[in-house]
Amino acid sequence: MNISLSRQPASEIDSAVLLLLEAEGARTESLKGHLQAAYDSGEIAGKAMEMTLLYGVPGYRAARILLAGTGKRERFGTAELRNVVSAAVRHLKGRKLKSATLVLDAGYSTPEHVNAAVEGAILGNFEPDALKTEKATLFESFTVNVTGDNPGLDAALAQARIVAEAQNFTREVAGEPPNQLTPTAMAARARKMAGEVGLDCEVLDQDRMKQLGMGSLLAVAQGSAEPPALIILRYTPESGRKTPNLGLVGKGVTFDTGGISIKPSEGMEKMKFDMAGGAAVLGAMRAIAQLKPPIAVTGIIPAVENMPGSRAMRPGDIVRALSGKTIEILNTDAEGRLILADALTYAKQIGCTHLVDAATLTGAIVVALGHLNTGVFTNDAALLDRWMHASQAQGDRMWQLPMDDEYKELLKSVNADLQNIGGRAGGSISAAWFLREFADGTPWIHLDIAGTAWLDDAKPWMPKGATGVPVRSFVHLAMNWKD
Ligand code: BES
Ligand code: ZN
Ligand code: ZN
Repeated sequence: MNISLSRQPASEIDSAVLLLLEAEGARTESLKGHLQAAYDSGEIAGKAMEMTLLYGVPGYRAARILLAGTGKRERFGTAELRNVVSAAVRHLKGRKLKSATLVLDAGYSTPEHVNAAVEGAILGNFEPDALKTEKATLFESFTVNVTGDNPGLDAALAQARIVAEAQNFTREVAGEPPNQLTPTAMAARARKMAGEVGLDCEVLDQDRMKQLGMGSLLAVAQGSAEPPALIILRYTPESGRKTPNLGLVGKGVTFDTGGISIKPSEGMEKMKFDMAGGAAVLGAMRAIAQLKPPIAVTGIIPAVENMPGSRAMRPGDIVRALSGKTIEILNTDAEGRLILADALTYAKQIGCTHLVDAATLTGAIVVALGHLNTGVFTNDAALLDRWMHASQAQGDRMWQLPMDDEYKELLKSVNADLQNIGGRAGGSISAAWFLREFADGTPWIHLDIAGTAWLDDAKPWMPKGATGVPVRSFVHLAMNWKD
């Protein structure tokens, strides 16, 4: 999509669609005459996501005006702007329209707002139809018309494009069917992407992982005919500085049947998105390579398929992880933590000084937080602080859950150093504690994205499917890193 900035009086803009924002109860001055009746009847009230398409409005050169409701002005920030622009693009695309000019008045002509608007337009232009014969209409051009000559708007636009395209890349990968996106295919995807943006990419195969002693990761992989892959993407800043090194670790289970502790068949197809954390790391690394933050960043994706084959791990098996700890497997469906355990240990071994993992780890987090907030767990207050700032600025909603020492007791095993499940009560917390045992003393954040990486019901601003959470926050964390 072609994206540009313009600075013109709104009435003179020659565009297929002029996109005007209408705050709740505000009544756009220049439309008051034309829309008097609709305003009076309450048909147009400026409620959030309210869309009204108008034709041939007197006083405007544009052929159409789309009035997009923003809700109450005091609650309208960059996150809401991103969503309403995305919803507007989706609304127009659905009517076969392919371009629009968004009008931002002086108060909204800041780099933050331009950034959010451009991201919204690109995110709204994503369609999960890669494998459909008939494609949806896509937007071809989007212009942001600003007021005044605020500096930094071009840079904001360029950055937004990179980040939103990376998030769409993640959505595309996360939505891919499990027969196509195998661990091997995911590694090939990573290699191709790395080549395109100039990242270093290394893939460890099963033999190498055996040599290294990744008994926990390999236990999950052994039930599948598809070989596992450990994907490592490296970004080094121009300064050449190697520390600090931010490790982004993403769960890459390309399909989770549950293994021998098999899942019920109803809804099992959704478990193709069990690599959404890994896909988010791929997308974030893609943007990071282009935006060049001042800190070294390493992306690590353990990619495996969790199947109940004849060589599959069994409940009762005890395996030795890369860290040396022994793990009693009591439920083969708690596989994400098994692969992440070795990925986190490996991340530390290769020099990561800070770790953030994203994983569709537990159904329990969906019970706790629904589909709105990602569950956040940490062993480090300072890193958490950075993370909460980064995610808030990006409109990715996060909610911290407790990690009292007592929860760790849930993982005590009679036969090994720890067991891989902690029971139903506090299920997301015991899962996080399992990971924490492998992050050990390294500052670490765990994001349980099981409820937020996938949308079951379309929203005005997003179709059903992969959301690309938390790509923007990942990128922002790296971009704003200060020692
Ligand atoms: N991939 C699932 C978690 C999940 C559930 C993601 C729902 C998205 C939506 C994970 O591997 C899993 O199966 N977890 C088990 C853990 C349990 C056996 C302790 C779960 O949550 O039921
Ligand atoms: Zn599972
Ligand atoms: Zn899983």
